[in-house]
Amino acid sequence: MIELATEAAREAGRYLKMNVGKIKHVERKLGQETNLVTEIDKRSEAIIITKIKQRYPHHDFLAEESGSHQKPSDFRWIIDPLDGTTNFTHGFQFFSVSIALEVQGEIVLGVVYDPTMDELYSAEKGKGATLNGRSIHVSDRSSLIDSLLVTGFPYDIRENPGNAVQHFVNFLMEAQAVRRLGSAALDLCYVAAGRLDGFWEGLLNPWDMAAGVLILEEAGGKYTDFRGFPSTIYQKQLLVSNGLIHEKMLEVLRRGLNATG
Ligand code: IPD
Ligand code: CA
Ligand code: CA
Repeated sequence: MIELATEAAREAGRYLKMNVGKIKHVERKLGQETNLVTEIDKRSEAIIITKIKQRYPHHDFLAEESGSHQKPSDFRWIIDPLDGTTNFTHGFQFFSVSIALEVQGEIVLGVVYDPTMDELYSAEKGKGATLNGRSIHVSDRSSLIDSLLVTGFPYDIRENPGNAVQHFVNFLMEAQAVRRLGSAALDLCYVAAGRLDGFWEGLLNPWDMAAGVLILEEAGGKYTDFRGFPSTIYQKQLLVSNGLIHEKMLEVLRRGLNATG
């Protein structure tokens, strides 16, 4: 199954890479001015689902563009066919394909592919995480001032600003630097590979996180909500880190949550 997921992610990734700068239709999702979808997102999803269905016709799917397929099966594939659509529409080549398999509610495998760098991150539950076949591990930085962090902002930030800006400012004042790269799945993999030390985002969907969270955990990283409680991909909040700076990141988040209630 991991081979199938890898093949599907690579095939979709090749398609995305070939189509940078060739988008014909950009739609705005759910009437939101900044939440975009293109025919490339939809085609990428069709490539992945068709490939998996050929092998496993009775499996269920939860995919960003086609939603829940609602098949009664213990096996559910969770797919983001293009994570980083905003980047993609601008030709900013930081985007990925994310595919995970959930079996009876537990994520057992995850693959994230970055076609620009030809980097394939993958993990199977209990077997560690790899980047292009080589084992990866989170960083060993233990202070925020030495840490490079990343975050993301929700599409509806204008309507629901919440604490997102406050958290961003607070981390800017504590960390070595903070980035906003635009692909949550890759943000997670970058923490897994030790290129970044921590990542927080307040409003994510299961397909943004499913594969990346397993890769992160298998690389030795830690994953909770903004208050430090264990989380799942069905909760919107995500705080991940190398483990060593987790408590320090929680303190910063608590300050932001307390500031605005
Ligand atoms: C988005 C990206 C972005 C994150 C957003 C996601 P999409 O996914 O992962 O980094 O900040 O919350 O929705 O829409 O490009 O698949
Ligand atoms: Ca996404
Ligand atoms: Ca997407």
